[in-house]
Amino acid sequence: MQNYSEAVLRWHLDIGVDETITSSPVSKFNTADALSGETTASAPAAPVVESLPLATKDNSSLPDKSLVAPFYSAEAIAVEEKLKSINTLSDLKDFINTFDGCSLKKTATNTVISRGSEASELMIIGEAPGADEDREGLPFVGRSGQLLDAMLAAAGFEKEQAYITNIVFWRPPGNRKPNPSEIGLCLPFVRRHIALKKPKAILLLGGVAVQSLFGDQDFVQNKGITKLRGDWIDYTSKDLETSIPTIASYHPAYLLRTPIAKKLAWMDLLELQARLTPVQK
Ligand code: URA
Repeated sequence: MQNYSEAVLRWHLDIGVDETITSSPVSKFNTADALSGETTASAPAAPVVESLPLATKDNSSLPDKSLVAPFYSAEAIAVEEKLKSINTLSDLKDFINTFDGCSLKKTATNTVISRGSEASELMIIGEAPGADEDREGLPFVGRSGQLLDAMLAAAGFEKEQAYITNIVFWRPPGNRKPNPSEIGLCLPFVRRHIALKKPKAILLLGGVAVQSLFGDQDFVQNKGITKLRGDWIDYTSKDLETSIPTIASYHPAYLLRTPIAKKLAWMDLLELQARLTPVQK
């Protein structure tokens, strides 16, 4: 039989509150608090952003909700400028590992960048590390990652045929969704990551990944993953000579909760496999 304190702790865990971040509460409805992570009266004026989603137990369980455009701050622009002199994946990883500008790093155990072969044709981009990834320092190693690996293997992708990363490199506390400022700050890294990796195709997992990379385009704005999955979108960048075909699909965390959607995710993987398979003459 649980005592009262245990029951309160269990309730906190169930609603996603699994860490103590500050000694005083932070209001998620006050954007200044939410963006600074502090509750001081002198918090800087925050940019206007849409209301921040409340923490959920699983950060990818709502495929069409909480879609927010990235906020591109002056700091993000400064990062983008510095990244122009980074010309190898190894230097990029060193840069990300030593970058202290994202407040998520303060509460994370590890910086989580990538796993898989840098030579692979396929680059997979998810949302943000969860608790398992934060502990191990590698993306998609928890239950979502196991499902992703199993689906990739079943669709014919060899173990090292996919290079896996995320939109943000530090676990958001309580597995909440990364907010527009956090995404905006990590995006220059993600774009440089793609430009240096030069994959033949990109698979985006979940609405946050699609909105982060394509949210400024009319046909993507305000659309959830249900509307966007399965369609090819060209990723272009001034750092790339040619565009990269990109397909979006459901996030594996969503599939764990909604097995019926696996059929569509499976079709997306087969579509991707067909695109990467050279036509036999
Ligand atoms: N979900 C993600 O989006 N990325 C991970 O690395 C793990 C879970």
